Amino acid sequence: MEIKWTPALKIGHAVIDNQHIELFSLFDEFVEGCAKERGKVSVVELYQSLKDYVEKHFRDEEALMASSGYPGLEKQKREHQKFQRQVSELGSTISRQGVTLIELVQMNKLLVNLLVNHVQDVDQKFGEYLRKTGGEE
Ligand SMILES: [Fe+2]
Repeated sequence: MEIKWTPALKIGHAVIDNQHIELFSLFDEFVEGCAKERGKVSVVELYQSLKDYVEKHFRDEEALMASSGYPGLEKQKREHQKFQRQVSELGSTISRQGVTLIELVQMNKLLVNLLVNHVQDVDQKFGEYLRKTGGEE
C-alpha cells in the first residue's frame, strides 16, 4: 500500500507542510522496507529514521504552536504523545520478533489512520488558526 501526501493535506505553513511530506515519504519507505525484508536489520534502521523524524516534527510543530500562542497546544501535545506511544510500541514489537505479515498489515492500517488523522484533522486546525491570526500566508 502506498501512502501519499496530497495537496489536500496542506495546512498552509511551508515548514510544517514540508515536514509532513517528508514524514509521509519516510513512513512509506518504512512500510515498503518491511514488506520486502521482514525482520532484517534495514527494517530497524528505517524504523529509527521514521521515529527520529516524528520526534523532530512534533518538537518543531509544538514550538511553532507555542510561539504563535495557539490555544490548542495542550490538546495537540496529547495527540503527539499518543502517536509517539504507538510508534514506540511498534518499535518494541519489531525488535522482539521482527515483522510478521499480519502485523505489517495491522500496523500499516493503524499508522495510516494516525498519520492521516494527525495531518488532516489536528494540524488543519492549527493551519486555520495561523491563517486567522496572520501567522502565515
Ligand atoms: Fe504535524
